[in-house]
Amino acid sequence: MRLKKSDIITSDIKKQLFLTMNTIMTDFTVIRQYNFPTVIRFGAGAVKELPDHLVANGLARPLLVTDPMVAQLDFFKQIKKDLEAKSISVEVFSAIHKNPVKSDVLKGKEAFKETSRDCIIGIGGGAAMDVARAIVLSINHHRDLFDYDDLIGGDQYVTEAVPYFITVPTTSGTGSEAGRSAIISEDETHRKRILFSPKLLAKIIFADPLLTMDLPPFVTAATGMDALTHNMEAFIAKGFHPMCDGIALEGITLINESIADAVNKPGLATRSKMMIASLMGAVAFQKGLGVVHSLAHPLSAFLDTHHGLANAVNLPYGMQFNIAGFEDKFKRMAIAMNLEEQTGEAVVDHLFELNQQVNMPLKLSAIGVKQEHIETLSDLAFADFCHPNNPKPVTRADFKTLYTAAL
Ligand SMILES: NC(=O)c1ccc[n+]([C@@H]2O[C@H](COP(=O)([O-])OP(=O)(O)OC[C@H]3O[C@@H](n4cnc5c(N)ncnc54)[C@H](O)[C@@H]3O)[C@@H](O)[C@H]2O)c1
Ligand SMILES: [Fe+2]
Repeated sequence: MRLKKSDIITSDIKKQLFLTMNTIMTDFTVIRQYNFPTVIRFGAGAVKELPDHLVANGLARPLLVTDPMVAQLDFFKQIKKDLEAKSISVEVFSAIHKNPVKSDVLKGKEAFKETSRDCIIGIGGGAAMDVARAIVLSINHHRDLFDYDDLIGGDQYVTEAVPYFITVPTTSGTGSEAGRSAIISEDETHRKRILFSPKLLAKIIFADPLLTMDLPPFVTAATGMDALTHNMEAFIAKGFHPMCDGIALEGITLINESIADAVNKPGLATRSKMMIASLMGAVAFQKGLGVVHSLAHPLSAFLDTHHGLANAVNLPYGMQFNIAGFEDKFKRMAIAMNLEEQTGEAVVDHLFELNQQVNMPLKLSAIGVKQEHIETLSDLAFADFCHPNNPKPVTRADFKTLYTAAL
């Protein structure tokens, strides 16, 4: 709620309040809402608590939503076994695409209804957890799924109860476990749509780093760079949200000190730090993301590039674009990364180095982008929902320049 000028605060006092903030002109007469997430059980072995949690909450018929690859992994089979050992009836839904589409969600909804489930557990990376969250939405909300698109005010229709929802992340990247939105693409165009409602936040998260111990180096690197992008973009995003800023800076520190080892010589400590830092990234980015995610999204839509990989390649270029005018913020990120030189340029150089250390490509041409794609990619990037929160405006021409620089 915005107070009228005449309310309470005289313009002199207001001016004084503004002057206390040196880089951002913050209007302290605006009332803001801060939502912080849910119960988080974090640590090695946390997922072992899942069966007792269901029993304690009177739940006995979960739909486990995962992807076809995770469904084959030993830890997934063990989770299923542990649930069944407590006489819990388990149904698995794993028929989802790498970049999930609406028809995946509708099939999952059918599975939930046909087998009379009483709750939904999303187990996997961002793709599986997003599908699980969209199924949660779809059960008692019967409009077309994309009527609930946040960008067209769809959250106003999320009025009904939703099934009990639990998340179990098995990658350390999107932080979708702690999110309130699901990114689902249109089947035909592959355009990403964002479904959002506070009701879609998991009731509890079981964040167990042991589940990520066998995550291959490429996925660890790509998802980890996605998490770094979330923390960095959230930190510099528009808006006054010091709680998110603090979390984002600590997330940057944790990822910076652990990602190379998490990829190249995995151990419990580094993989644990990556897991909590990726969750923190998602908490921080309720403040917003920016130009890097808008550069990345079209690559997934158009070329089916993995989300984290797309962010990894674009991150240094997008950050370079943002330095001018935001030197103070970059200084703070440089400090969080423990860099000797505390400048934006040093941060960008360091991002290129990090990409090299974790074997991420430095150029878009290495992931199949060609000169002739740039016009279409620029159109899609400009239409994307993330860059309006970028600290500085991004034009279509800027997207073209950035893609060209990264090619
Ligand atoms: N909801 C959000 O806020 C949000 C934010 C960013 C991205 N996303 C979405 O998340 C998706 C990307 O998620 P992601 O980066 O986690 O990738 P992902 O879910 O596609 O998983 C990457 C790969 O790793 C495999 N995998 C997962 N866990 C594993 C494990 N423990 N061991 C071995 N292999 C494992 C999966 O089978 C998959 O092949 C995209 O669809 C993106 O749009 C959502
Ligand atoms: Fe992301």
